[in-house]
Amino acid sequence: MPPVIRRYEAADLDAVVGVFLRSVREVVSRDYDAAQIAAWAQVDRDAWSRRRLDRPTWVALIDGVIAGFGDLQSDGHIDMLFVDPACQRRGVASALLDTVELAARVQRLAVLDTDASITARPFFEKHAFQVVRSQVMALRGQHLTNFRMKKPVRAV
Ligand SMILES: CC(C)(COP(=O)(O)OP(=O)(O)OC[C@H]1O[C@@H](n2cnc3c(N)ncnc32)[C@H](O)[C@@H]1OP(=O)(O)O)[C@@H](O)C(=O)NCCC(=O)NCCS
Repeated sequence: MPPVIRRYEAADLDAVVGVFLRSVREVVSRDYDAAQIAAWAQVDRDAWSRRRLDRPTWVALIDGVIAGFGDLQSDGHIDMLFVDPACQRRGVASALLDTVELAARVQRLAVLDTDASITARPFFEKHAFQVVRSQVMALRGQHLTNFRMKKPVRAV
């Protein structure tokens, strides 16, 4: 069964924080060291609560449980796309990205971009995003390599 996608609601906050923390600690940790993961796996609950609502955010449900989430900023930047470790490679992120791309077309955005982790790069490449550059981001005293990637938005 494909995941069910719906808009994020305020009551989803704990579930998406849980997905984020598990995904960073158990999936992203394949590609970054322990100090980098510790810096990344931190959540300011108030800031998250605001940010999840100040832009479109979608959740993906499998058997009624939140398995992943993604967002779209008004400038076409995808800031968040995370899938629970228990639900990897089941099309969850692809379903979320389809929704993001549809929203981008409706908003007449020209380009989508993201700062893809080493872990997420193959997923975005599979979906026709291209690497613009590799970059090193400072995060709570750590330095993490990721990739600015972009994809033109297909006209409706
Ligand atoms: C990247 C991520 C979002 C992909 O989520 P997912 O739901 O497992 O992805 P999908 O099942 O939709 O994958 C679709 C296709 O992308 C490609 N793909 C996905 N993950 C891949 C991986 N680790 N290695 C190679 N290809 C991959 C495959 O072609 C896959 O199709 P297949 O499973 O039939 O081979 C997920 O691995 C994740 O949460 N990673 C950690 C968080 C992260 O780095 N987020 C991005 C922050 S910038």
